[in-house]
Amino acid sequence: MEKKIDEKKLLSEAKEARKNAYVPFSGFTVGAALLTKDGKIYRGCNIESSVMSPSLCAERVALAKAISEGEKDFLAIAIVGAPKDEEAKDACYPCGVCRQTLSEHVDLATFQIITEEKGKPSTCTLSDLLPNAFVFDK
Ligand code: THU
Repeated sequence: MEKKIDEKKLLSEAKEARKNAYVPFSGFTVGAALLTKDGKIYRGCNIESSVMSPSLCAERVALAKAISEGEKDFLAIAIVGAPKDEEAKDACYPCGVCRQTLSEHVDLATFQIITEEKGKPSTCTLSDLLPNAFVFDK
């Protein structure tokens, strides 16, 4: 049986990760927490660069950490973002690059994107955010 995802716990991991964001350019801090099928959580924060293009979003940092540790099965990601030193009030959804990157490692129809709006968890699937995703057929 599928285990119920603890959305609040995953959001609180994302909030912890957000504290480590390195954002000297945008001042916008993002934290992400990626849940594997066996219950492990990988955290990520955004890491900016003065050369701009190497800047990393929180979601892809969490995904890279997990993939590089051999993880292959993912259930959900929680994302929290707001200007530095402010509490997050509005939902923070993954950017287009992160949607595409995630799509290559998860089941689009079931993978959950968990955000928080006015203190309440809100969930949708990756296919809600990325319909007709590009798939590279080799
Ligand atoms: N950012 C993320 O980390 N994740 C998102 O889904 C949206 C944007 C980061 C990138 C950049 O460091 C800052 O937020 C402002 O765009």
